[in-house]
Amino acid sequence: MQTIIQKIKEECSNLIENSTLTKELNDIRIKFFGKSGEFTNLMKGLKDVPKEDKPAVGKMLNDCKKNLEAKLEEKIKELELKEKDKKLKEEELDITLSGKREDVGGLHVLSLVRNEIVDIFTGLGFTVSDGPEIETDYFCFQMLNIPKDHPARDMQDSFFINDNLILRTQTSSMQVRTMLKQQPPIRIVNPGKVYRVDSDATHSPMFQQIEGLVVDKNVTLCDLKGALELFAKTLFDKNTEVRFRPSYFPFTEPSVEVDVSCPFCGGKGCNLCKGTGWIEILGAGIVNPVVLENCGIDSKEYSGFAFGMGVERIAMIKYGIPDMRILFSNDMRFLKQYK
Ligand code: PHE
Repeated sequence: MQTIIQKIKEECSNLIENSTLTKELNDIRIKFFGKSGEFTNLMKGLKDVPKEDKPAVGKMLNDCKKNLEAKLEEKIKELELKEKDKKLKEEELDITLSGKREDVGGLHVLSLVRNEIVDIFTGLGFTVSDGPEIETDYFCFQMLNIPKDHPARDMQDSFFINDNLILRTQTSSMQVRTMLKQQPPIRIVNPGKVYRVDSDATHSPMFQQIEGLVVDKNVTLCDLKGALELFAKTLFDKNTEVRFRPSYFPFTEPSVEVDVSCPFCGGKGCNLCKGTGWIEILGAGIVNPVVLENCGIDSKEYSGFAFGMGVERIAMIKYGIPDMRILFSNDMRFLKQYK
């Protein structure tokens, strides 16, 4: 019996020492100390030990069991600690790692400039309207005093969809639509995309326009100049000056090209204004009475002014951007400057 106890003791002790997982130790507990484990069986076998040896064998068996159980518990604690440490290490967060920064979006420089322009005019009591980009020849040209085959059509080389439909070349079509619906007083701005067959460093086949229209009693060229002067001073600089040069548009009479004193050199002459001190920003004029009559507005009672500008051109002047194409290039290095 003693030798058996000794053997089991060694076996159990070795197993405990060599285990590396708490799970293995649990198996050992069941195998040796469980209900039908080795030690339980040995206890049962005690009854066959000769009476005189019983106390000694019993004590040996008890001591051995107690020692091994203690050893097992100790090893369990040791392994539990190790396993916990390992888990903690695995789940450890490195709070020194730099985070990923999400890029915050911003408005495109053209949207910023468009909003700024629209804000100036809404501040003067204008309302904003927009209409279809696919427009009829009738609204885009004929109603604006540009009949079919009129040479003035050359000023706006157009994308035709068919004989009657085009991609609008100017947002002036919206002025017609508004005048047909509404009697004066009218005070509107029309921001929107327009399309022309044109492409180089200062022209793009698609660009944005903002046109304005005022129709009321006694509207004169002075009102136009006053409104545009306030616009230019607000958009560029309070010292900006505005000048009119005679021009021609079929829908305005008289027609003018509007220049502002160069915002970069203050009018002294620099590269951007090609030494002239002036930069052209838009076309304008007094609404041709023919257009008013076309829209059912009495041209003896009412008069109006209209103007139209390209948003890209204004943005290029405002920020000294030399090539229009960069506005459409989606280059973040460029766009980020205008957040
Ligand atoms: N529609 C003209 C253009 O696109 C601009 C303009 C508008 C001129 C209103 C005069 C009056 O060129």
